[in-house]
Amino acid sequence: MEKYIIMGGNPLSGSVRISGAKNAVLPILAASLLSSGVCVIKDVPRLRDVHVMKEVLEFLGCTVEWSGSTMKIDASKVNSIEISDFLMRKMRASNLVMGPLLTKFRSAKLSFPGGCAIGSRPMDLHLKGLSAMGAIIEEKFGFIEAIAKDGYLKGAEICLDFPSVGATENIMMAATLARGETIISNAAKEPEIVDLQRFLNNMGAQISGAGTDIITIKGVDELSATEHTVIPDRIEAGTLMVAASITKSNIKIENVQAKHMEAVISKLREIGIKITEEESGLRVIGMEDLKAVDIKTMPYPGFPTDMQPQMMALLSIAKGTSIISENIFENRFKHVDELRRMGADIKVEGRVAIIKGKEKNGLSGTFVNASDLRAGAALVIAGLAAEDATIIDSIHHIDRGYENFEQKLRGLGAKIIRVAETQRGLEK
Ligand code: EPZ
Repeated sequence: MEKYIIMGGNPLSGSVRISGAKNAVLPILAASLLSSGVCVIKDVPRLRDVHVMKEVLEFLGCTVEWSGSTMKIDASKVNSIEISDFLMRKMRASNLVMGPLLTKFRSAKLSFPGGCAIGSRPMDLHLKGLSAMGAIIEEKFGFIEAIAKDGYLKGAEICLDFPSVGATENIMMAATLARGETIISNAAKEPEIVDLQRFLNNMGAQISGAGTDIITIKGVDELSATEHTVIPDRIEAGTLMVAASITKSNIKIENVQAKHMEAVISKLREIGIKITEEESGLRVIGMEDLKAVDIKTMPYPGFPTDMQPQMMALLSIAKGTSIISENIFENRFKHVDELRRMGADIKVEGRVAIIKGKEKNGLSGTFVNASDLRAGAALVIAGLAAEDATIIDSIHHIDRGYENFEQKLRGLGAKIIRVAETQRGLEK
């Protein structure tokens, strides 16, 4: 497997442009199934997860053209309603095609999405919502089969037990072609859901309320193709801001929407990082003294769980003891053991991590392994500040969510290269 080799200790400088948001483009690609024409999506990041969603759409019979950062999806010849186990296991977010298939083609069949490194990640909230709309759902032989009982879905009032992002998106998409009005309460409020509403309404849907906890969808007869530019990736932006913070750098982040990042910006400022809004972006200046802080991950607009590992790497060299509570996923501390190998002083008790910042002789480079996407990003961040070389294995996890990651970091002056497994000389 490919690895990163990072020589730490280099301050970063210059500017970097943020790519389109992975967690916005995935539901939008799934939603393109709802039209019978050719949707054109711009600012699509070249990520492994987007390649998988393209495979899913092609498996269903779509024709997908992807050049540069523009993707054209022709959904006029969809001829299947089933997603194979192989594809589902590649990426849980493949389950986002369930709502569109069910409401447009009256049925959907997908293998039960496996858990992943950060948790079991069930779909019960998705299925409860779809069955409230009249879907008959059967789970057997590891597959979930859903059929619109009367040949169509009906509007319903659905209250989510938890503001699940995926469940909100699947139910929203299913409701666009249902008969009647659907109201989702306790809906997730992420910016990616607002972007999905914008895309669907441009296709002719009648949705309001995305970004609040009550979303109303009036069913229509059909949706047409449209063109859409994806919002910037707030988690990539946050990750690069933390990279600048830990290396005490001064960089400019371009193509970023600060209003999507209030919790992250506020926490970084509390730590002592200078963040100012400039023409077309954010200026981030890492300061000498980093202050320990407490973080609780929460649904949006609270502190995002997808930024938790990266912040833990930063806090491992802050002054004082920080406490991080992970309230979204049951098992999102896989990066702790790897950070410990680099010298971090972290103790985990259930869903709480206690980080004793090492102000002096911070982190030291060594061999570490990326267990999942954001854990991998945290190890890159730690490697940028660590003494000597850090070798990170299994970086295919990082490729799922960061476009041209090493190129962007090298463009800022970081010493990072990607090497193939077989390349000798990795032994220190
Ligand atoms: C989305 O995942 C994101 N992925 C995740 O980003 C992100 O961490 C997560 O939302 C939370 O913000 C995409 O958008 C593609 P959830 P999703 O449904 O939709 C439980 C990344 O790093 N739950 O909001 O799967 C679930 O187990 C990824 O980019 C149920 O119990 O997240 C979890 O504990 C990682 N039943 C919590 O809710 C359900 O039916 C949040 O899950 C659904 C979810």
